[in-house]
Amino acid sequence: MPRKIPLYKPQTIVGKEVLKSIQEVLESGWLTMGPKTAEFERIFADYVGCRFGIANHSCTSSLFLALDALGLGKGDQVIVPVMTFVATANVVRWAGAEPVFCDVAEDAELDPEKLEELLETNPQIKCVIPVHLYGYPCNMDSICKMVSKYKIKNVEDCAQSHGATVGTKKTGSIGDAGCFSFYATKNMTTGEGGMLVTDSKEIKDRALLMRSHGQTKTPEQKIADYWYDVVSLGFNFRMSEIEATIGIKQMEKIDEMTRARLETAKRYKEELDKIPGITMLHKPDKRSARRGVYHLLVVKIENNYPLSRDQLYKRLQEKGVIAGVHYPPLHYFSYYQRTTKYKKGDFPTAEKLFSQILSLPMYPRMKEQEFQSVIHALKQNSKP
Ligand SMILES: Cc1ncc(COP(=O)(O)O)c(C=O)c1O
Repeated sequence: MPRKIPLYKPQTIVGKEVLKSIQEVLESGWLTMGPKTAEFERIFADYVGCRFGIANHSCTSSLFLALDALGLGKGDQVIVPVMTFVATANVVRWAGAEPVFCDVAEDAELDPEKLEELLETNPQIKCVIPVHLYGYPCNMDSICKMVSKYKIKNVEDCAQSHGATVGTKKTGSIGDAGCFSFYATKNMTTGEGGMLVTDSKEIKDRALLMRSHGQTKTPEQKIADYWYDVVSLGFNFRMSEIEATIGIKQMEKIDEMTRARLETAKRYKEELDKIPGITMLHKPDKRSARRGVYHLLVVKIENNYPLSRDQLYKRLQEKGVIAGVHYPPLHYFSYYQRTTKYKKGDFPTAEKLFSQILSLPMYPRMKEQEFQSVIHALKQNSKP
């Protein structure tokens, strides 16, 4: 069996300076939600271009905090693209609202036309969650026009889009709130972790309360005076200082890591353009106002490729190349089939896309030899 080429590798989070900063945190005796968390929040919010950052457990908890802070709940409906990781829809249910699935366009982004059809016919829709899937920004110009026209809220799911831009704006700074993931495979990681960013003081204040059981004081503030109030039900969504210090160190490398992904994407384009039947879903394009960050490198397996997507997936695996499929449309999952009105056939573009897409290995510092093995395996199969 040849050595395996993984789909992703966790970003470089080990290095003398990272280990030193973790040791400093451990020796400081302050292990959670302290100065490192505050520093990480400042640095990350600045990077995105927002006033506030609220570090927490995950993108899932960030999305929940955003929906809660916007007052969404029972009786409200929230638009979610039908092709996304399931967290985007699950949080809507946990917030007490109902997810409304929306079909995607040919390149897997939320389809603005379908979005408008839903908004025109359904006054209970109070919010949309555009997902910058694979690290490629949605058509935010069209989405924002509809957000203003129909007076709904806009929570960006940026789990995969650290540093992606629309014109001069980074994803996460366009909607009412942006929610990022620092899960192990993401473009930057703290192991697990997430950040809510926003310009709104109201959202920030509410999210801070909800992050730590509705308490009016942080542990640090309680040192000076023990009394505090609990003004709301809340959760423990706190981030540890160890995660925060890793996050700070990751921020020093984020631009370099993104550049390395873009270089790999360019190399993929050069080689994939030569293979009939395999098309990159998003090709690097300097002229476009939307710049992706290639969290995933997704290709479409067209009819003129001699193998089906599933056949190719298995063939690559036999050759030690681990590919993936992101994502099954939400209405394919038994939970959502049981609990919504949706059925197969309702979202034709997402369904067709799902039968064709394949995610190829993509990570910064992908070795030339690893890259060539992937291309070689794809080319070998392209000969009938
Ligand atoms: C599009 C999308 N949204 C939300 C999430 C949830 O992120 P987390 O694992 O940090 O909760 C993910 C994670 O894979 C994701 O890809």
